[in-house]
Amino acid sequence: MTRLSILCGGVVLAGASLLASGCAPKAATASAPASVERGKYLVTAMGCGDCHSPKQMGPQGPVEVESRLLSGHPEGTQLPPPPAPSGPWIASASGDQTAWAGPWGVSFATNLTPDENTGIGSWSEETFVQALKTGRHMGVARPILPPMPWTAMRHLSDDDLRSMYAYLRTIPPVHNRVPEPVPPAAPPVALPAAP
Ligand code: HEC
Repeated sequence: MTRLSILCGGVVLAGASLLASGCAPKAATASAPASVERGKYLVTAMGCGDCHSPKQMGPQGPVEVESRLLSGHPEGTQLPPPPAPSGPWIASASGDQTAWAGPWGVSFATNLTPDENTGIGSWSEETFVQALKTGRHMGVARPILPPMPWTAMRHLSDDDLRSMYAYLRTIPPVHNRVPEPVPPAAPPVALPAAP
């Protein structure tokens, strides 16, 4: 009902008035137009910036840098090797939560701004939706690494994912080339058991 009234400009939902307004009844099953407003709501409420935005320290802890919103792990940051896992503490994060180390190696939150070369400016809507639904880089390539919570996001509807993409197209593009992930150190070679 809601979709119809959006698509048909709020006409009364009786067959006759639908036809009179030129709005085909089959519009009821069409997907809703991607909404920048809804995309902003989802991206903000789901905390994408917790990992994807550079931060600066404020009185209450790290806050997102507005001018570099969602631009990913800052290029050129020098990080020492991550601490060795100890007991149940197997993962660690940089203070701004844009770099993460664990059994998967080191992952860096990507640039989600529409910059053509370093962000998702060249991604199609389909690429974005498929990446978050399949957990594969750009929807087709290597597995997307932790802690990117795509296993939760894949439950979003296509309309919501498309709206998130639509919103991300509207934020200021930031040129920031995020490093490739670092693979885990080779596991220790197992020695043959003594005879
Ligand atoms: C807990 C941290 C975290 C949160 C929260 C998070 N991400 Fe990510 N995201 C990452 C990391 C780290 C990567 C890089 C993973 C890799 O290199 O495989 C990533 C990668 C991505 C990618 C690139 C996928 C690809 O195909 O390579 C997209 C798109 C993305 N995130 C979108 C989002 C959106 C949208 C949200 C909010 C709804 C979000 N992320 C929230 C950490 C996070």
